[in-house]
Amino acid sequence: MTILRIDSSITGDASVSRQLTAAIIAQLQAQDPTAQVIARDLVASPLSHLTLGGSGDADVLDEFLAADTIVVGAPMYNFTVPSQLKAWIDRVLIAGKTFKYGADGPVGLVGGKRVIVALSRGGFYEDNSAFEHAKSYLQAAFGFSGITSEFVTADGIAVGPEQREAGIAQGLAEVERLAA
Ligand SMILES: Cc1cc2nc3c(=O)[nH]c(=O)nc-3n(C[C@H](O)[C@H](O)[C@H](O)COP(=O)(O)O)c2cc1C
Repeated sequence: MTILRIDSSITGDASVSRQLTAAIIAQLQAQDPTAQVIARDLVASPLSHLTLGGSGDADVLDEFLAADTIVVGAPMYNFTVPSQLKAWIDRVLIAGKTFKYGADGPVGLVGGKRVIVALSRGGFYEDNSAFEHAKSYLQAAFGFSGITSEFVTADGIAVGPEQREAGIAQGLAEVERLAA
């Protein structure tokens, strides 16, 4: 199994989403010790915005296509994902490669993959909140490719120290409950 780990938090060692992606990777490796892990840190090595001339980083799509499982660290920034992560989505959500438009509408082309998102948010959000564009966006983006994404969520991280600890504990408990 090939696992692709994507991190996008700017807060380094203090990052909750990075703590969760690390825990998910450890869990997956415990289940399959032969798994190969490829890590892409979108803060250490940012991708550029799209341009008409092409970005020259086709390797990002190849890496995604080659992975069986993708673990995505997604902090909420200003109600949605960091622009670093959006730039990565722009490289992997591509008509003709990961989805196509058929006679009956869009068709996902990479439905065999597993995507696990480690979502960390400062506050608390109902899924249908008008301010929630991180989980909903990632669900829609991966869904367009045919993938039903799974979420491990740590909420209330910016509310205070106790809520932060509770949010991290909640996220780590959800990692424990991830299906093999
Ligand atoms: C630039 C920035 C913007 C943020 N915007 C929001 C926001 O819109 N809503 C929210 O609930 N939390 C927001 N937060 C708080 C983060 O979602 C929270 O601290 C989360 O844990 C960040 O993930 P990390 O710990 O992996 O860095 C923001 C944090 C930063 C640094």
